[in-house]
Amino acid sequence: MEPDISVAIGKLRLKNPVLCASGCFGYGQEYAELVDLSMLGGIILKGITLKERKGNPMPRIVETPAGMLNSVGLQNMGLSRFLRDKLPLLSDIPTAVIANICGETPEEYAAIAKELSDKDGISALEINISCPNVSHGGMLFGQDMMLTFEVVNLVRKQTSLPLIVKLSPNVTDIASIARAAVDGGADAVSLINTLLGMSIDIKTKKPYLANITGGLSGPAVKPVALRMVWEVCKAVNVPVIGQGGIMTWEDSIEFLLVGATAICIGTANFVNPKAGMEIAQGIKDYMKQHKIMDLREIRMV
Ligand SMILES: Cc1cc2nc3c(=O)[nH]c(=O)nc-3n(C[C@H](O)[C@H](O)[C@H](O)COP(=O)(O)O)c2cc1C
Repeated sequence: MEPDISVAIGKLRLKNPVLCASGCFGYGQEYAELVDLSMLGGIILKGITLKERKGNPMPRIVETPAGMLNSVGLQNMGLSRFLRDKLPLLSDIPTAVIANICGETPEEYAAIAKELSDKDGISALEINISCPNVSHGGMLFGQDMMLTFEVVNLVRKQTSLPLIVKLSPNVTDIASIARAAVDGGADAVSLINTLLGMSIDIKTKKPYLANITGGLSGPAVKPVALRMVWEVCKAVNVPVIGQGGIMTWEDSIEFLLVGATAICIGTANFVNPKAGMEIAQGIKDYMKQHKIMDLREIRMV
């Protein structure tokens, strides 16, 4: 008998726990020729804002030891063009598609959520209250319990879709922010978004990024991410989606052991677009080897 690797995020059922992270897998279709999308548990789309955003000035990506810094600044086409150009293609994607949304005010989050709620092709919403690369909104909400509650609560009233809240690691007590998100009506939380960092070119004596600071992702952040996922898993009773530096199936097992229900693959996609497929297969093989029939049995804590 094959192990059951399907998982539930609220009322959303994923065929396996492997999702591709927002901003690291476009709108899914871009990868269709390289990746068998049906082998993924789901795809989280690039962040969508109400109005088009040009993003931050270049350069906005720099490699760092065991990771990368980005200050893309939520460049995206805005809600209306997304609805016109991208939404019609989503129903053809053979796995769950989750929209990731970001706003400058709680009302903006709510307006986008309302608009996306009755659309074919979108199975859940992830609200990004943790983007470190925008000057208004984003991470500011995710650093304050009251604001977290307020945004989530407002969005909750606009949608019956499963609601995932994406948390920032740039806080002192992530468990209390996670609890505020759940109190506001989150069906799940996902973490971590990128860690705020910077890097200087000593030849030019200037920061590598035009925005000066950026978000650190990749293997360098994994121990921090794992510790935070572990803390949040103990603090809330909703599914936790773990991410931060997952490059291999072994990395993903660590997150599942500390209590994550699902995991996201971000930076790894830039190195190996097939990482998600390989990780899904690796999780299944590990379960067979360890005679685990249901993914819920894997949890160590
Ligand atoms: C280039 C880039 C763009 C990103 N864009 C978004 C975004 O639009 N919305 C969001 O919630 N997270 C975004 N993220 C954060 C990732 O989804 C992920 O949470 C983070 O990179 C940690 O995982 P990783 O170490 O596996 O990359 C972005 C990350 C990168 C590297």
